[in-house]
Amino acid sequence: MTKHSIVILPGDGIGHEVMAEVKKIIHWVSANTDLSFDITEDHLGGTAIDAYGVPLADSTLEKCRAADAVLMGAVGGPQWDKVDYNIRPEAGLLRLRKELELFANLRPAIVFDALVDASTLKAEIVRGLNIMIVRELTGGVYFGSPRGIEDLGNGQRRGVNTQVYTTMEIERVARVAFELARKRHGRVTSCEKANVMESGKLWREDVTALHAREYGDVQLNHMYADNCAMQLLRNPKQFDVIVTDNLFGDILSDEASMLTGSLGMLPSASLGAADENGKRAALYEPVHGSAPDIAGQGKANPLAAILSFAMALTYSFHRGDIGEQIEWAVEDVLAQGIRTGDIMADGCTPVGTAAMGDAVLQTLERQKANAA
Ligand code: IPM
Ligand code: MG
Repeated sequence: MTKHSIVILPGDGIGHEVMAEVKKIIHWVSANTDLSFDITEDHLGGTAIDAYGVPLADSTLEKCRAADAVLMGAVGGPQWDKVDYNIRPEAGLLRLRKELELFANLRPAIVFDALVDASTLKAEIVRGLNIMIVRELTGGVYFGSPRGIEDLGNGQRRGVNTQVYTTMEIERVARVAFELARKRHGRVTSCEKANVMESGKLWREDVTALHAREYGDVQLNHMYADNCAMQLLRNPKQFDVIVTDNLFGDILSDEASMLTGSLGMLPSASLGAADENGKRAALYEPVHGSAPDIAGQGKANPLAAILSFAMALTYSFHRGDIGEQIEWAVEDVLAQGIRTGDIMADGCTPVGTAAMGDAVLQTLERQKANAA
């Protein structure tokens, strides 16, 4: 038996509902494999503001630091829109990413066959799509200083943020992209705005130099981020791995998610550097937000959160085999025509959050019976 510690941070809005389904899957894995889990639950975001007065309490951060993996739901909601900027729910998530140094955010965009028609793009453009966006997550304009809003005294104000990257930050995230490409189709597209930004020029030069030094076997090309946004819609299958900065990655990954039909399908992993024992800090979260408009109604799609747990099995617990079983179960459930509202199609069976989680469980059970 290998025991792993997990901190679950359901967060706000639909975060609670989707994480309840993830817990069912975790229990299934502990009942049916040689893995077992030690689970702690805590607050993040708005619920943490209500419970502790801050969006990420120090005690929560320490639990996350000690854990093998953190699973998060979503943060944010209109009830906390008026709180001070640096204690907004989102600030809790940003602090968690920064404090754990989760510099590499992996956002796969995979089109499941059964969902080809859920995409707003033509089926032939997206069928079989499987791209991996590697977003830098602890630097750039999200964290650069100076930042702030200053009063110019003449009825005018001035808002400032700073885009800043060092060679170390660029190289470590590019390395993750190159390593992933080696296990995939061997291609990396690096995106920046080297035509207008010095930080982008440095990004391009450093990625090029690292590639020449260590990753000659991987095919590298560079693309301006705006062109990448266009190419993702024109011909998304040209991409294998995309590596880009924090802000461009935020935008491009939302765009890529819609190629798959719904933001409700996209998982993510945020990883730190591996220590000498191969252990790395890791946070797994669906790409979607807290969806206050449907929160508490049992309508949310839990598949992105469930697929995020599958990523935890692969990247933190080194059990890609079990992660794959969960991915197959999700694919199978979609093929059965079971759908939450966000991916609903003619002739399919509409279900809520809990029924979707149960369908994945039943399919896992059936897969197990078939394998026996
Ligand atoms: C994301 C989200 C976050 C971000 C918000 C909630 C701070 O949009 O994870 O993509 O901008 O990084
Ligand atoms: Mg985003």
